[in-house]
Amino acid sequence: MFTLAHLSDPHLAPLPAPSWSQLASKRVFGYLNWQRKRRRIHQRGTLDRVITDLLAQAPDHVALTGDLVNIALPDEFVAATAWLADLGPPESISIVPGNHDAYVPAALEHATSSWGDYMRADHSAHPEWPFVRRRAGVALIGLSTAIPSPPFMATGQLGRPQLSRLAELLTALRDEDLFRIVLIHHPPESEPRRRRERLLDAGPFRDVLAKVGAELVLHGHEHVHSVMWLDGSDRRIPAVGVPSASAAVGGHWQPASYNLFRVTGASQAWRCEMVTRGFAPGCAEIAEIDRRVLVRAV
Ligand SMILES: [Fe+2]
Repeated sequence: MFTLAHLSDPHLAPLPAPSWSQLASKRVFGYLNWQRKRRRIHQRGTLDRVITDLLAQAPDHVALTGDLVNIALPDEFVAATAWLADLGPPESISIVPGNHDAYVPAALEHATSSWGDYMRADHSAHPEWPFVRRRAGVALIGLSTAIPSPPFMATGQLGRPQLSRLAELLTALRDEDLFRIVLIHHPPESEPRRRRERLLDAGPFRDVLAKVGAELVLHGHEHVHSVMWLDGSDRRIPAVGVPSASAAVGGHWQPASYNLFRVTGASQAWRCEMVTRGFAPGCAEIAEIDRRVLVRAV
């Protein structure tokens, strides 16, 4: 059995004090939003408790689907790098970036230089997308949808080169009889709930999955529990989202949680159980919230 823990959108707090020159960009809107609202949602203490519970489950690997930082200040990348070092070694943690990690132009370069070891393929010296990591019958395929966007927008985009490489990789990994888990920040919704936050090429991404298949898609971005079913080559593909890993209990938002995916079996006879752990609304202790089988042998 292989156990993958999935968490997303930690939006690490506290937010360092920005200089006036650093705010002379889209950052000023994000900073005001943080002061007005987000600093009450994203709590370091909540995140610490989630991580303690997650590590106690002893997963084989951790997937983190983006938005480690908030407005991409240089000091945020320093803090996130230290936090990651405490979480675990790069070979045990796979990261894909979110829109907040590319909040302003050049931020994504900062992310890749800071966390590149968590975002590169096995035996590769440099981060790249897609990247593939093979772990005990499982292939983790990491994608980047992180692009800078105008103020009040949080769109993402894969682009043609990444999509065509993804199709090649998913085909090859299927031929290797690996359980293919695609990591992506933005959910591939066909009818996005908020258009200004959508994945711009969700349609072409879904077309790739429909043609060559995958066993599981994990995403963040929306900060809510969700399971949507996508067309695959021979069976439907579950696409699973999670709340922010730092969302405090007691607001109108969904409080912090994470998912464990337990993969057993082999080609054409995979089984994948999802266990959700976190804070139930209004509950101050972390507990199992949900358990269900997402993939069963055919
Ligand atoms: Fe986020």
